[in-house]
Amino acid sequence: MTAENQRHVPVLFQEAIDFLNVRAGGTYCDCTLGMAGHAAGIARRLGAEGHLIAFDRDPEALELARVRLEQVSGELGSQAPRVTLINEAFSTISSYVKPASVDGLLADFGVSSLQFDEARRGFSFQASGFLDMRMDTRQGQTAAQVVNEANERELADLIYEYGEERRSRRIARAIVRGRPITTTDQLARLVSQAVPAMKQERIHPATRTFQALRIFVNRELDEIKALLEAAPRLLKPSARLVVISFHSLEDRIAKDSLREGAQKGTWEILTRKPVTAGEEEMARNPRSRSAKLRAAEKQ
Ligand SMILES: C[S@@+](CC[C@H](N)C(=O)[O-])C[C@H]1O[C@@H](n2cnc3c(N)ncnc32)[C@H](O)[C@@H]1O
Repeated sequence: MTAENQRHVPVLFQEAIDFLNVRAGGTYCDCTLGMAGHAAGIARRLGAEGHLIAFDRDPEALELARVRLEQVSGELGSQAPRVTLINEAFSTISSYVKPASVDGLLADFGVSSLQFDEARRGFSFQASGFLDMRMDTRQGQTAAQVVNEANERELADLIYEYGEERRSRRIARAIVRGRPITTTDQLARLVSQAVPAMKQERIHPATRTFQALRIFVNRELDEIKALLEAAPRLLKPSARLVVISFHSLEDRIAKDSLREGAQKGTWEILTRKPVTAGEEEMARNPRSRSAKLRAAEKQ
């Protein structure tokens, strides 16, 4: 495996494929195509009668994934499944997928390493780039617009809510005083000066502020809620739902939604506790350290 490929290794790959229970001839939906790591694994198991439907709202990611999946189809030849790619947010899934038509649905939330590592996308404070943070670069407010246009109170509230950042008021004040802000490193510097790293903290002082802005710009939590609400209608009986979260706000929504569904008899929960990466995967792929996988079967 080349170093380039290694950066895009899918998280909890085997576990996701196993819980999805991918069977030849089925219809499976990958709601977060990314670099098509999981999707390629699904496609290889589907056979010529199978159908892979995949969503990504990032046009760049979708085009790269299309090339990757064409390579996989080329390798599979007559055994390649039908592939449908949709360049939309997964909250729109009910407009594209018929009720009770899917055998398995996967969602691997958050940004991909491709998005994170590309400075011009503005997701990372480790490289200097325009403060964009939109997954769908065709529409919506950039993070730069948010930090420059929201008032101090709004900024403090969103950094507190989506970043779980206790020092949000001080950060919001520094942002308002430091405007205009256009780049990732400018924002990271402002935040670090406003709330210097505490001794016991292992993360960069701007980590939570960046997480908050990313979630807000992409309405990530609303997207997850909409998907989890739609999923039971789209799945066939005994079909599987697999979701992978990377922080507590995402995981809480998944946990509560599945628990509520189980109480109503919609889901049988297959993961009493969330599945996490083993030590070997964590050593190989640092992103897997915070991953939590939950799976359920439609009743
Ligand atoms: C963590 S990556 C997925 C990686 C993928 N499983 C793989 O193996 O390469 C998440 C991807 O989902 C996309 N995404 C995130 N939220 C989305 C949403 N609400 N609708 C559609 N795509 C979304 C992002 O643009 C990103 O490319």
